[in-house]
Amino acid sequence: MINRETIDKIMDTARIEEVVGDFVHLKKRGTSLIGNCPFHGEKTPSFHVSVTKGIYKCFGCGKGGDSVRFIMDHEKYSYPEALKFLANKYNIEVEEAELSPEAAEAQSAKESLYIVSQYAATFFVKQLWETDEGRGIGLSYFKERGFREDILKKFEVGYSPDVWDAMTQSATNAGHKLEFLEATGLSIKNDNGKIYDRFRGRVMFPIHNFTGRIIGFGGRTLKTDKNVPKYVNSPESEIYHKSNVLYGLFHAKKAIRDLDNCYLAEGYADVLSVHQAGIENVVASSGTSLTVEQIKLIGRFTQNITILFDGDAAGIKASLRGLDMILEEGLNVKIVSFPDGHDPDSYMHHVGAGAFKTYLEQNRKDFILYKANVLLKDAGNDPIKRAGIIRDIVESIAKIPDPIKASVFIRECSSLLEIEEHILLSELNKMRSAKLKKSFDNNQRATPSSNPKPYNSGPPEPLGPPDDLWDDSAGPMGYEQPVEENEHQEKEIVRLLLAYGHEFVNWDKIDDMYIGPFIMQNLSDVEFDDPLCKRIIDYYKSEIDNGRLPTSNHFVKHEDRDIADLAITLSTSEYALSENWLNKHLIYVKDESMNLKATILGGIFHLKKRKVEKILMNLLKEIKEEKNEDNQMILMQRYGVIKGVEREISKFLGSVIVK
Ligand code: CTP
Ligand code: MN
Repeated sequence: MINRETIDKIMDTARIEEVVGDFVHLKKRGTSLIGNCPFHGEKTPSFHVSVTKGIYKCFGCGKGGDSVRFIMDHEKYSYPEALKFLANKYNIEVEEAELSPEAAEAQSAKESLYIVSQYAATFFVKQLWETDEGRGIGLSYFKERGFREDILKKFEVGYSPDVWDAMTQSATNAGHKLEFLEATGLSIKNDNGKIYDRFRGRVMFPIHNFTGRIIGFGGRTLKTDKNVPKYVNSPESEIYHKSNVLYGLFHAKKAIRDLDNCYLAEGYADVLSVHQAGIENVVASSGTSLTVEQIKLIGRFTQNITILFDGDAAGIKASLRGLDMILEEGLNVKIVSFPDGHDPDSYMHHVGAGAFKTYLEQNRKDFILYKANVLLKDAGNDPIKRAGIIRDIVESIAKIPDPIKASVFIRECSSLLEIEEHILLSELNKMRSAKLKKSFDNNQRATPSSNPKPYNSGPPEPLGPPDDLWDDSAGPMGYEQPVEENEHQEKEIVRLLLAYGHEFVNWDKIDDMYIGPFIMQNLSDVEFDDPLCKRIIDYYKSEIDNGRLPTSNHFVKHEDRDIADLAITLSTSEYALSENWLNKHLIYVKDESMNLKATILGGIFHLKKRKVEKILMNLLKEIKEEKNEDNQMILMQRYGVIKGVEREISKFLGSVIVK
């Protein structure tokens, strides 16, 4: 148990923008910060951080809370684990009330894996710097390759002695359990039950997760024997999932965010060398081919990736296709390749830090144009090959979610490939429509099993506050519902009319207007679907048209039973909940009346957004059913335009809420 004073200290020190900022690329928007929500996939930001309130809230998926809650949700930590995480981040000493022997025993297995990994890393570092074997073999190897001591120390590289079980012995002597050493793959039991070290006689690169804890290792052999694998790596474990780890991210993330770009290299050595040249925004995919998770991970810090290509022309050509995946995630991709078969590491040591830096800056090419150039060179004058290139390039462009960006590339490629723009455009439209159909088919297949149970892989039960303390799914903006329903948004409008209709609009340049008519005016283009809401809205409208402003009393005492019932429910729900509600949701309820502008505009535009989403759904259906290609194209274009409207609404919601 962490004692009260420590908890208070952590709460006082942790700044929401820093805690969230470690995981989400936040941009300033007015007085708040926004970014792409890390809890659900999205490409337009609806995740808001209020620095003054110390909270975050996603208006897409409804998740919200304070710093501790964020860490619990994001890292799947229990309450005490999240507190310890924050304490560690802010160098706050955690004072724990006496642990019972059982509690000490029950220390989570996952935590133990982190602990043995850290132990091993420290062991390897000590071997490298303080033993004859380590210095003579490991350190001199790094020195020969030109690595500086500060870089070796920063990345905590080490050396694993060429002995059967040196690390395992040392760890078990220090009291670490074999069980955990085996679970991380650091120790291996052979068929005879004998235990040995996975890494022997290798220089060691520890792999950190992006919060800085060691989760695995890569060990490079120093032998030139072709039969010995160059690298041995930690296996997957409960703490090491290769597909969502990037080597170097922990050391790079601040620079990535500050410089708004991430260099992506292939290997451990490349990351160290680029760092040594003074460029800290670099990570590596380390042997595995790049995964969507890794791209999303980068996307939390920046929208710009620059690939540092390694190797020869053939290798580059082969890896070009894999990069479309990055475009698909909406990120911008640039490419730097190196002369004479150099990789970033060898080139840095070849030309020196200064020249290397200049080279990166001057040789950055946009991926699509780079790809077009590489393929064009390859095709020469062969017309069939050239036709193939057009498809290939347009295929990449079709992956870009932003239509404006895509059209810029179409224009540039049109002059590069010497092909008229409209030919490329029609090719692009064909591909987009095929893609749309496919995603529509997939959607249809996915809908019947909606409301899946939340995935839960974390530690047993949070020991912190009960979950419902944070549950705001019933909050004014937090309705959870399938996309095509909008009943809640309609009811929210009715609720706002009843609660605030007769108050004065006093924001921006709008004045001399009551909120009731303001809402009605803004929703004049919206048809209500829910019959009861529609009746209330129609009545409200006719009253306004006759110069009267209905109060909530009007509806609460309405002769129509259904209207009266709904009015009562809507105008009392907040008060019925009030005690708990205020304590639990302090922030949101208080917000509502304190920031009426956000509340009212939020209500109006959430409803509009639902309506637009509905139109889009229907259009998709039509597109799918339309057999005539020309008609289909027209529908597609309309879809594009309305999608743009939806995006604008989302953007507007982003700018107006939580201010
Ligand atoms: N890799 C691996 N297993 C191998 C070879 C490579 O896991 N047998 C991974 C490593 O993560 C390595 C990356 O692929 O860092 C890139 O490979 P390479 O360029 O060969 O390694 P470098 O890190 O550049 O190592 P060095 O320069 O020391 O040869
Ligand atoms: Mn290399």
